[in-house]
Amino acid sequence: MNLALLGYGRMGRAVEAAARERGHSVVLILDADENPEGRGITPEAMDGVDVAVDFSVPGAAVDNIRRTAEAGVDLVVGTTGWEERRSEVEEAVRAAGVGLLHAPNFSIGVNLFFRVVEEAARLLAPFDAYDAHLVEAHHRHKVDHPSGTARKLTDILLERLPGKKEWSKDLPDEGALDPSVLQVSVIRAGEVAGMHAVGFDGAHDRIEVRHEARGREGFAGGAVLGAEWIRGKAGVFSMEDFLADRTGDEERG
Ligand SMILES: NC(=O)c1ccc[n+]([C@@H]2O[C@H](COP(=O)([O-])OP(=O)(O)OC[C@H]3O[C@@H](n4cnc5c(N)ncnc54)[C@H](OP(=O)(O)O)[C@@H]3O)[C@@H](O)[C@H]2O)c1
Repeated sequence: MNLALLGYGRMGRAVEAAARERGHSVVLILDADENPEGRGITPEAMDGVDVAVDFSVPGAAVDNIRRTAEAGVDLVVGTTGWEERRSEVEEAVRAAGVGLLHAPNFSIGVNLFFRVVEEAARLLAPFDAYDAHLVEAHHRHKVDHPSGTARKLTDILLERLPGKKEWSKDLPDEGALDPSVLQVSVIRAGEVAGMHAVGFDGAHDRIEVRHEARGREGFAGGAVLGAEWIRGKAGVFSMEDFLADRTGDEERG
């Protein structure tokens, strides 16, 4: 398979290595300099590309997706921080008739972790004495916060815990935190590849479930498997769709 890399930073390079390991060719690399406002993405540049893999920056992802879709090329998008423009992006992808697989986290382990958190939240929902909260840590170069993975975890928790109505990464200037607020703590330090922990804090004990990435290989390998899977599909897909298809599991909402 011939791949284009949109964004050639830490993740772009890791995807290149993972793609080569699985026998794919990287035939086009566009980093910031070659691709202002997505203008490096043209039908001519994309000629012969089967799937484009975007690990760029939040401000570039939407242009990149739109222009790649218009060039008729399927996409895997790992960039986070553009979710508020999701409906616009999905419309462009559907209009172009290409496939888009996007996920805040391509690690298979993290996607299984989402299911562990779903189950933990379901079990703890009747016990509001256990106060849920979330901690995420990443390397200091990461620009968006909280992480896309943390946002997905807040969706899972808010949907299942009746005592939590909204999330916040800020503490109030005065007074205590409202118990109906799910607190999200963000750490940016050094070269942390990615850590997410969900805690349920009770009066006498504490339960914590936690995922820690040891490096970028897990994200990159998942993105390459995703590229193999999305090729030739039309529509917008998530890692839930990919995992359900690969494991023969039922479609998950
Ligand atoms: N889904 C997942 O599994 C997963 C895992 C890890 C990270 N991520 C996300 O993936 C994204 C990239 O992470 P990273 O650690 O690789 O960041 P990074 O090292 O900063 O790399 C981003 C690259 O994108 C380039 N870029 C900027 N504008 C561009 C444009 N218009 N077209 C093409 N490339 C452009 C940057 O170039 P300059 O440096 O020259 O500006 C940089 O080389 C982030 O949003 C991160 O949150 C997702």
